[in-house]
Amino acid sequence: MKFDVMTLFPEIIEDYCKHSIMKRALDKNVFEINTVNPRDYTLDKHKKVDDTPYGGGAGMVLMAQPYVDSYESIEKSENSITIMLSPQGEPLNDNIVNDFAKFDQLILMCGHYEGFDERIREIIKPREISIGDFVLTGGELPALCLIDAVSRKIEGTLGKIESADDDSFSNGLIEYPHYTKPREYRGLCVPEVLLNGNHKEINEFRLQKSIERTKLRRPDLYEKWEKD
Ligand SMILES: C[S@@+](CC[C@H](N)C(=O)[O-])C[C@H]1O[C@@H](n2cnc3c(N)ncnc32)[C@H](O)[C@@H]1O
Repeated sequence: MKFDVMTLFPEIIEDYCKHSIMKRALDKNVFEINTVNPRDYTLDKHKKVDDTPYGGGAGMVLMAQPYVDSYESIEKSENSITIMLSPQGEPLNDNIVNDFAKFDQLILMCGHYEGFDERIREIIKPREISIGDFVLTGGELPALCLIDAVSRKIEGTLGKIESADDDSFSNGLIEYPHYTKPREYRGLCVPEVLLNGNHKEINEFRLQKSIERTKLRRPDLYEKWEKD
């Protein structure tokens, strides 16, 4: 799996990948991350990548030429998908993450400022993905959210200790509560059932807690889970 990230701020992507699970997975070559900076593709001697919007208004718009040329410079595998990070896109969820994990190459387009000249969309025709109904200053954090979530689904990223098997959404529910040592903290005790070593009972308890939590916090997911 290869992630090609189109960004004006490659350091943001690179810095995140220097830590923890991401770093370990990259060191083991479980996947690869490459950055492509549209600024390196400008034809302008000042390396200009944005300009004022036609029709007026605040902010700067990312120009088509550097984005399209940098996109065209990326070598594409047969099984690749291009994704534009955009608050106007489809909201990201675990099903989409699972679908993305089946590709060999994800090309991620990060915007900035007011966003993309519309012709970038028209020419590249990416799938647009949003990480929620709010607006960030740039697409780097959304791209990192997507890379992180997808990479967790790739064999070799997580060790057994961080396994994603029981994580929220994997079975349509959100996860049960966790406890670790000590047994008692400020008068709050770990539920007895988790201490008795009876795995059948522990699994039943966890499923029950998962159901209760989902019903309370995410009735939309609970309804779907009940129907399925
Ligand atoms: C300030 S935003 C542009 C917002 C745009 N003017 C609009 O209202 O739709 C700049 C860039 O940040 C990224 N971005 C911001 N919020 C996002 C979100 N919720 N999901 C994904 N990308 C986002 C996109 O790449 C976007 O092009």
